[in-house]
Amino acid sequence: MTRFSILLAAALTLGIAGNVQAKPADFGKTKDGKKVQIYTLENENGVTAKISTLGATLVELHVPDKNGKFADVILGFDDASGYQGDGNQYFGCTTGRVCNRIAKGKFKIDGKEYTLAINNEPNHLHGGVERSLDKVIWKAKEITSKDGGKGVSFTYTSPDGEEGYPGKVNFTVNYVLLKKNTLRIYYRAKTDKATPINLTNHAYFNLAGAGSETVLNHMLRINADKYTPGDNTLIPTGKIEPVKGTVLDFTKFKKIGARIKKLDDTAALGYDHNYVINRKKGQKIALAAILRDPGSGRKLTIRTTEPGIQFYTGNFLKDQKGKGGKTYAHRSALCLETQHYPNSVNQPNFPNTVLKPGDVYESTTVYAFSAD
Ligand code: GLA
Repeated sequence: MTRFSILLAAALTLGIAGNVQAKPADFGKTKDGKKVQIYTLENENGVTAKISTLGATLVELHVPDKNGKFADVILGFDDASGYQGDGNQYFGCTTGRVCNRIAKGKFKIDGKEYTLAINNEPNHLHGGVERSLDKVIWKAKEITSKDGGKGVSFTYTSPDGEEGYPGKVNFTVNYVLLKKNTLRIYYRAKTDKATPINLTNHAYFNLAGAGSETVLNHMLRINADKYTPGDNTLIPTGKIEPVKGTVLDFTKFKKIGARIKKLDDTAALGYDHNYVINRKKGQKIALAAILRDPGSGRKLTIRTTEPGIQFYTGNFLKDQKGKGGKTYAHRSALCLETQHYPNSVNQPNFPNTVLKPGDVYESTTVYAFSAD
C-alpha cells in the first residue's frame, strides 16, 4: 500500500472523505428507445438516494432505523420499464408542469383560454398524459452544494405548447444529500410566456420499509390549522377552513388510521387533501409535517418554502408489484406533496402560480430523517 492509499482507506473508514457520489448506471430504456440512467448519492452515514433521469424520479431512499438497520422507505420499480407500466402512480417523480388538479383542464391567462388533457375525469391531473414532467428524460450532471452536499442537477426544456401549456420553460431540479441524513430538493423554472407552474415530488413513504403492509399505524403531525375543502372531484371550493373538529386535524401527532374510516365514503376515498401550512410572517422555509413509524423509530421531518401540502394515503394503490418483487397494497404508503394549492390558476384568492417572463420560479423542500 502506498502512503496515499493508506490515507484514503483511513479517510473512507472514518467517514471523513465526504459524501460518496457514484457515476450513473444504466436503468433501462423508454418505450421509444431512449436510454435512462440512474444516479446514486450516498452520505457518510450510509444514507443512499437513487434518482433516475426518467422524470427526475426518486427511485430509492435508504435510511436507518433506531438500531441502525437500513430500509428503503419509498415505493418504486427496479427499472425504467416499471415506471412506464400501469402500476406506476407517479411514484417518486417530479410532478408538473402543474401538479395536482386543474378544474376541467381549462384556464385563462391575459384573456386567452388554454385547454389541457382530461386525465382524471373531469379534471386535468399532474401535468398531463404523454409529456408531463414525470414522463420525459432529463439531462443530469453532478453538483456540489455550498453547504457541502453532493447531488445531481436535472434540467429539461419544455417547448411552448407542450401538454397544452403556454411558453417554453426551462426547468431545473436539484437533489442534494446532506450529512445530517437530509435530502433537499430545489426546483427552478424560467419561461418566455406567462404560464402556470406548480412542482412537487410525488414520493410514497412507508417508514417501516417500502412493501410493508400498511401505513395506517404511522403517526403524523401536519403543521396546518387550515385546509382547502374540495368538491366531489377534489377541486377546492375556494374557501380556506379550520381543521379543528374534523378528521383532518393533525395539528398534534395522530395515528393515521385512527379516523380514516370516516373518509372511506367521501370523494377522496381516504386522505387526499391540501393543507395550508402555518407560517410566520416573512418565514421562508416552514415546518410542513413530521411522520413517525413507532415500530422502526424512523422519523421524517419535512420543511418547505411552499404554502401547501397534499396529504394522500395511497388510496389507489392496487397490489402492484414494485422493487424486489414487493407488493404495494392499498394504503401501504403515503404522500406528503409540498405545493401550491390545487387549481390555483383558477382561484384568484389562492397564492399565485403564474410565472411571468423575466421572473424565476423557485421552490425548496427538505426531507430530514432521524430515528428514536
Ligand atoms: C395525488 C392526487 C391523488 C392521486 C395521486 C396519484 O396525490 O391528489 O388523488 O391522483 O396523486 O395516484
